[in-house]
Amino acid sequence: MDAETLKAAAARAALDSVKSGMKLGIGSGSTAEHFVRVLAEKVAVGLDIIGVPTSSRTEALCRELSVPLTTLDETPRLDLVVDGADEIDPVMDLIKGGGGALLREKIVAAASERMIVIADESKLVDKLGRFPLPIEVNAFGLGATKVAIETAASRLGLSGEITLRMAGDGPFLTDGGHLILDASFGRIPATRRLAGELNAIPGVVEHGLFIGMADKAILAGKEGIREIDAKAEHTIKTELD
Ligand code: A5P
Repeated sequence: MDAETLKAAAARAALDSVKSGMKLGIGSGSTAEHFVRVLAEKVAVGLDIIGVPTSSRTEALCRELSVPLTTLDETPRLDLVVDGADEIDPVMDLIKGGGGALLREKIVAAASERMIVIADESKLVDKLGRFPLPIEVNAFGLGATKVAIETAASRLGLSGEITLRMAGDGPFLTDGGHLILDASFGRIPATRRLAGELNAIPGVVEHGLFIGMADKAILAGKEGIREIDAKAEHTIKTELD
C-alpha cells in the first residue's frame, strides 16, 4: 500500500466526523487535498457544509470542486478543522508547515472548536523535531531574526542548521508574503518552551509547533486506521513541560 492510498484512507475516515450544517476549516497539503476530494463528493450528493480554506492552494481546489467557501471574517467560529501534519507526537502535539501554510493553518485551528489531524502513520514520532521546524518570518530584519532564533534555541540546548526555504531561484513566499526558515534542531525536548521563546521574537510571524491544538489524530497504516484521542494525554503533557 503506498503513501497516497494511506493518506486517502485517513481523509475518508475523517468524513465520519463531518455533519451537515457544519462550518469547517479545510487544511493544506497532500493529505488535506485527499480530504477536499472526498468532501466534494459528499457535497455533490447533498452534504451541507461551508468551509474556510487554510491556503490559497486549498482555496483553488475547493473552488474547482465546488466546495462552498466562507471566510473567518464572515464566519469567525468554526466547528471543526481537518488538516494534515508533518509530525505528530504521542500527545498529539504537531509540527506543521512543510507546505508553508502554517500561519493560516494555525489561525483556522485556533478558530475551530475541534481539530482532527489526518496522516499516514509514518508521521507519528516519539519526539517532535526530526522534521525541520518551519518558522515563518518577516523579510525585514531576516539576519537579526535568524540570530535571535539561534540564541533562543541555544537557551534550550538546541542547535542546528537554519535555512531559508527556497522556491526555484528565489525565496519561498507564504500566502502572507513572508519567508520561511527551516530549523533542523533535531529532537525538541521542551516544545512548549521553544514555542514561547519563538513567539517572543518580533520578526517571527508564527512557527510550526502546534501545541495542545489537535483533539484527534486519524492515522492510516498497513494494519488499518488508528484513531488517537488527545484529551487525557494533554493534561499529563502540561504537567511535564
Ligand atoms: C502545510 O503547510 C502543512 O502544514 C501540511 O499540513 C503538512 O505539511 C502535511 O502535508 P502532507 O499531507 O502533504 O504531508
